[in-house]
Amino acid sequence: MSTRILTGLRANGELHLGNYLGALQPMVQLQKNLADDQEFFLFVPDLHSFTTPIDHDDLYENAIQNVRLYVASGINLEHERSLMYRQSFISAHTELTWIMNCFTYFGEAQRMTEFKDKSEKLGHKEVSVALFDYPVLMGADILLYHAKYVPLGDDQKQHIELIRTIAERMNGKFGEIFTVPANWEEQQKFSKRDVSIRIRSLANPEKKMSKSIDDPRGTINLLDDPSEAANKIMKAETDSDGFITFDMEKKPGISNLLQIGAILGDENIYEYAKKWHEQTKYGPLKTEVAERVKMFLTGLQERYEKTDSEKIEHLLEINEAKASAIAEETLRRVQEAVGLRRKIQ
Ligand code: ADP
Ligand code: TRP
Repeated sequence: MSTRILTGLRANGELHLGNYLGALQPMVQLQKNLADDQEFFLFVPDLHSFTTPIDHDDLYENAIQNVRLYVASGINLEHERSLMYRQSFISAHTELTWIMNCFTYFGEAQRMTEFKDKSEKLGHKEVSVALFDYPVLMGADILLYHAKYVPLGDDQKQHIELIRTIAERMNGKFGEIFTVPANWEEQQKFSKRDVSIRIRSLANPEKKMSKSIDDPRGTINLLDDPSEAANKIMKAETDSDGFITFDMEKKPGISNLLQIGAILGDENIYEYAKKWHEQTKYGPLKTEVAERVKMFLTGLQERYEKTDSEKIEHLLEINEAKASAIAEETLRRVQEAVGLRRKIQ
């Protein structure tokens, strides 16, 4: 069987430059360079997107808008070894979650730092049971499709480890019903991340770029006006040392600009930093990066405007029918294993 690679790109709110450079662009590359013995599944975790409160009026359209942005970024919805689907359109995800819940221990789930962090952010009010159960649904997302590799940011390491524990526990009890995803070290090796891409806020480069509601000056959304986005780069917070070098620890503001400029110009980050090393002023670097951001957004938005929502929904439905067939087969095996269905010998 071919090796399956699977990941979910979150769909709450507008996508920003950090999401693009850190998650979306690598997925486009992965799909483009997929080997003959690999398959790639990419999905919108729409059920995960309201584990913390959201505006439900926007949920459906947001998912479509995001898929349009993926397509504009280069994701191919008709790739022969790849599927893209919306989680909630495949009901096996929620059913397997319930079954897995019964083999997940409260104490294990309670240790997840993302749950603790998000509860804290909510001021410990309106913390849903679903937020607690988040990693188990994530486990069902992965195990239904027998995925070995799950490209993800460091913040998801603990979730992958918990999912491996649950899969191994259920395999131990019922026989080999699941493919256990590779451990974190192997996952990292697979993703070949030499410099992990973490775009910082332009207003406060100590922090990562995040949703624009929290940080409007520091965040560039993919659908922002390209000239305004260029202005944000020009006004980006930096130090005043007067030398340019790539060092995220000591010079996060300048390094962030170097990182954005290098990736958008398709240049090696160290070469790019070397090119600017002699400069004692930050203005020219900012101007170049601003120009690259403007060009990038203009091109992306042109492609976005050309996407056709109806065609995209139609293609998603075709992909969802194929994904559903795979998921149902796994679910059936699990139902048989736990005694919900008669075992077919
Ligand atoms: P946000 O932090 O804006 O809420 P999410 O947590 O929904 O974004 O992340 C969606 C994806 O985008 C994840 O794969 C995450 O690793 C990536 N991502 C988010 N912010 C950044 C960033 N500033 N730099 C690089 N990647 C990021
Ligand atoms: N938790 C992932 C994130 O925050 C999104 C996600 C949900 C996911 N289910 C998944 C990623 C399954 C990979 C596989 O980015």
